[in-house]
Amino acid sequence: MLRDQFPILNTTVYGHPLVYLDNAATTQKPQVVIDAINHYYTTLNSNIHRGVHHLAAEATELHEETRRKVQELIHARHNHEIVFTRGTTEAINLVASSFGRQFIKEGDEVIVSGMEHHSNIVPWQLAGARLRPIPFNDEGVLDLEAFAALFNERTRLVAVAHVSNSLGTINPVEQLTKIAHSHNVPILIDGAQGIAHLTVDVQKIGCDFYCFSGHKMYAPMGIGVMYGREEILDVLPPYQGGGEMIKDVTFERTTYNELPFRFEAGTPSVGDTLGLAAAIDFMSAAGIEKIASHEEELLNYATQRLSEIDQLRIFGTAPHKAGVISFLIGNAHPYDVGTLLDKLGIAVRTGHHCAQPVMDRYGIPGTVRVSFALYNTLQEVDTLVNALHRIAPMLQ
Ligand SMILES: Cc1ncc(COP(=O)(O)O)c(C=O)c1O
Repeated sequence: MLRDQFPILNTTVYGHPLVYLDNAATTQKPQVVIDAINHYYTTLNSNIHRGVHHLAAEATELHEETRRKVQELIHARHNHEIVFTRGTTEAINLVASSFGRQFIKEGDEVIVSGMEHHSNIVPWQLAGARLRPIPFNDEGVLDLEAFAALFNERTRLVAVAHVSNSLGTINPVEQLTKIAHSHNVPILIDGAQGIAHLTVDVQKIGCDFYCFSGHKMYAPMGIGVMYGREEILDVLPPYQGGGEMIKDVTFERTTYNELPFRFEAGTPSVGDTLGLAAAIDFMSAAGIEKIASHEEELLNYATQRLSEIDQLRIFGTAPHKAGVISFLIGNAHPYDVGTLLDKLGIAVRTGHHCAQPVMDRYGIPGTVRVSFALYNTLQEVDTLVNALHRIAPMLQ
């Protein structure tokens, strides 16, 4: 069983078996990923690309093999369109800094959605852009007509989440891309919550950038990806300066390396890259479609069972949703709900989920969020619902 491959899931918390429902924050790691990192540091540790010795050559080959695996995973045209970063946040900051320096002048506009994570808001503000948010309805569905009306001569980029981390909405990224391109505006997709739950085909979507974190798809923390279409990466200046991103350096002038190395200054996190490769193999073996349909079953079952609970309100009821449920019970503070669930071994997230504008939209301070991964079970949903029935009276 896939679940058996995650050693941490055997943990007990306050004497209860761990029920881990905080997967949108980070997923747990299967043994193959832990082994891959261990194997690297036990047998291969060396700095890559610039060494002639055996260890460096082997580590370089595996590091670059991971790039090819990512290319295949997201169906990119070229493997040099895959840039390694520390995660989604760094990937978006890379684009905001580099694209921003080239194309965004003070007062230019970037269209985001109203349901973005702060890491797809703040980098654009730092780049000097004025943000134009796409509104969404009470269910958590973006208003595409309003989106089309936001474009003007100062619009430089659209930056939208594939899946909302707070509402679970799966946004129509192909349609959004078509609309953006019909205005000759490039589009960045924040795939942090998409990559582990959906088949991602960047060519089919047609997007210009797609960013994600390894740690939300069973890989280690500290590794992520910025995919950029070759034609657009070619015209962007480097992000950070340092080793590996250069061709020639003198005190007068520096010339830069080719793609993707131009955007990868300094020593990369090779052990984590190899962990990412193991996670991709693990997900491919499990089958992304099977993962998605299992999570959909969990979502439907949990939605139905949670609605049995008195005064429970779900935020985010879009027809196309990933395995994320945000809710409140009566006037209970989400933090209190989360703390009581924790005492029963159930890990959920509480608060604004780094999406304060979403909370403002509903006029609430935060929510309790449960989010699923491939190893969660229907029994765990029952455990959650039973626990909520038990704690609900304590919250009144
Ligand atoms: C939609 C979304 N974007 C971006 C991020 C930031 O990811 P990271 O912290 O891994 O860089 C997250 C993390 O929760 C997210 O859910």
